[in-house]
Amino acid sequence: MADKKAQLIIEGTAPVELPVLTGTVGPDVIDVRSLTSTGHFTFDPGFMSTASCESKITYIDGDKGILLHRGYPIEQLAEKSDYLETCYLLLNGELPTTEQKAQFVSTIKNHTIVHEQLKTFLNGFRRDAHPMAVMCGIVGALSAFYHDSLDINNPQHREISAHRLIAKMPTIAAMVYKYSMGQPIMYPRNDLSYSENFLHMMFNTPAEIKPISPVLANAMDRIFILHADHEQNASTSTVRLAGSTGANPFACIAAGIAALWGPAHGGANEAVLTMLDEIGDVSNIEKFLAKAKDKNDPFKLMGFGHRVYKNFDPRAKVMKKTCDEVLGELGINDPQLELAMKLEEIALKDPYFAERNLYPNVDFYSGIILKAIGIPTSMFTVIFAMSRTVGWISHWKEMIASGQKIGRPRQLYTGHAQRDLPR
Ligand code: CMC
Repeated sequence: MADKKAQLIIEGTAPVELPVLTGTVGPDVIDVRSLTSTGHFTFDPGFMSTASCESKITYIDGDKGILLHRGYPIEQLAEKSDYLETCYLLLNGELPTTEQKAQFVSTIKNHTIVHEQLKTFLNGFRRDAHPMAVMCGIVGALSAFYHDSLDINNPQHREISAHRLIAKMPTIAAMVYKYSMGQPIMYPRNDLSYSENFLHMMFNTPAEIKPISPVLANAMDRIFILHADHEQNASTSTVRLAGSTGANPFACIAAGIAALWGPAHGGANEAVLTMLDEIGDVSNIEKFLAKAKDKNDPFKLMGFGHRVYKNFDPRAKVMKKTCDEVLGELGINDPQLELAMKLEEIALKDPYFAERNLYPNVDFYSGIILKAIGIPTSMFTVIFAMSRTVGWISHWKEMIASGQKIGRPRQLYTGHAQRDLPR
């Protein structure tokens, strides 16, 4: 894996030879681990040029707009797979056989109910709390309810925790929504598929159980697949860093949820809808584009740009197609969608966005579909968190199994040198 060498020449010292590591695909990586023995560190605050780990789960080629999970293109998974099969693939490295799939689905269904006492915990929150605030609290609290799967050095415990998280996230998300609405919490139904069950818990009430639309359930499943993993993004790196300390998986996923909440990451799907509301009308687009380009204005075009994709986001392409299907099926003629399409068209022609390779990302379209399905805006990032849980836990499992050291970055210190107290 390390046939090539890089030489680093630091003025006044002998050249330092560094191994160059080659992955299956993607750019070569200079292994700087030995640099500390020369008394130097590398400096890369936003991880612009830093590979933080070795992984076999997901590969992104940002220039070509390629996203592969365990080698399989996201477009094929979205079209021909389903969320639970994708979960199995991410967790285990290969697609399941028919028997393995049936066993996996049954295992996940076995874990859908959450501890009854969690309702008491939920009752402590204000009903107008942001659902992501409640999610951070409740998912972190799972470690207080499931002590029997907390030994991170036991592979079986790690697997049970992974299954519990994938199974319980929809139940918790729907509980949080029902609580905010003041409606009774709906128990999961294991005769339904993963996405049907989620929609059932979200929208049915004990007074009225309506059948779940297959179109909406399929769209929901596709949204789950498109968000399932995205290699070392901010929230996954947060989960890995928290996990590197030996923290339990529920605490690590709660840390991931917190990192996802920010508008530069998963919070962007909610921010897109808020922004479309703010723009209000096609006639205001130019004014808002000018704000986005103004360096003295903090406004950014939400749902545009990506750290890794400098061509297009392949998830956005599938999401746009799903968006058309859902709106067509529901017969919705959403003026906000029209506004979004016009905004996209004008922004893509604008040299500012073209020069900086700023294209619509997954969050640009997901909010419009979620809105059409009837999911309130404040729940958008919760849906992202639910879907991404499998990615987070797959990376956590991979890291623990590889025995990675605690993550402990260093710094370029620019504060005072040592000095004495003036007394
Ligand atoms: N609107 C206006 N200008 C932008 C935008 C935007 N959405 N995104 C980037 N730029 C500009 C930025 O100001 C900079 O300009 P200049 O070179 O003149 O200083 C240039 O483009 C490069 O941007 P950057 O901020 O250095 O890029 P980054 O890799 O640090 O940030 C990003 C990536 C996604 C945080 C950023 O593009 C952004 O804030 N976008 C809006 C939020 C959003 O949609 N986030 C969801 C990402 S996809 C879902 C996920 O994976 O979480």
